[in-house]
Amino acid sequence: MNRKERQFVDTVWQFWRKEGRHDLPWRQTTDPYRILVSEVMLQQTQVERVIPKYRVFMKRWGSARALARAPLAEVIKAWQGLGYNSRAKRLRECAEVVVSEYQGHFPADYGALKALPGIGPYTAGAVMAFAFNKPAPIIETNIRSVYLHHFFADATDVPDEAIMALVTRTLATENPREWYWALMDYGVYIKKTFGNPNSRSKNFAKQSRFVGSDRQIRGAIVRMLTEVMCTRKVLHKRLSQFDMVRIDVQLEKLLAEGMIEKRGQRFALPT
Ligand code: ADE
Repeated sequence: MNRKERQFVDTVWQFWRKEGRHDLPWRQTTDPYRILVSEVMLQQTQVERVIPKYRVFMKRWGSARALARAPLAEVIKAWQGLGYNSRAKRLRECAEVVVSEYQGHFPADYGALKALPGIGPYTAGAVMAFAFNKPAPIIETNIRSVYLHHFFADATDVPDEAIMALVTRTLATENPREWYWALMDYGVYIKKTFGNPNSRSKNFAKQSRFVGSDRQIRGAIVRMLTEVMCTRKVLHKRLSQFDMVRIDVQLEKLLAEGMIEKRGQRFALPT
């Protein structure tokens, strides 16, 4: 590390000691299952909204074994308010594979984690760091903000590879768990204080508009089916704010993905 990098590291640790969120529920555990659930929830939803959902989810399904046994319909019900129902389905599938291939114990290996359903490079690295305290380089929105602010103040179109190189150089190899907590919290502060620097990132994906999207229609169908099984006609009527043809297209997609089932004339969540 050069002088600038060492100063940067000091700044992040100082922030952590003074302002860090030491009490977040997923920071009270090193159980890889619990870490994984929190990371999947946090990928799409803000911390404040995740906390109560995470608590309920953990009480109900406290292990990969418990989640693997749960009916998909119940898991999707518990996921309401967290967005992207297909992530709940894949999380459950991941639990099934961990039970069948690893006797319910997550492997402490980056490659093996990344091979599991629904686990990409970020999530595999996050489980390595937060559960096993192993120094995997990771990048997500808050971490990206920190490095853009400190090392790329005037740059545009900064690729993640350039940020990753600095993440690796400054990584606290003896305590990556706490270091990433600190970086993420510092990132939240940077965004709040200086505005979001991520627009200068080449890999920054602006959230696409939700209202009027296929995603909104899918979410509305699944939510309706968490309450009651419905025929196509009833769905058209209850979701009359959406175009019927678009509803039908999403119904077919959801069926093909196994997110919903047909029982006689009715659509339902899979049990
Ligand atoms: N703590 C651990 N992982 C986190 C995340 N993805 N967002 C916020 N806090 C976290």
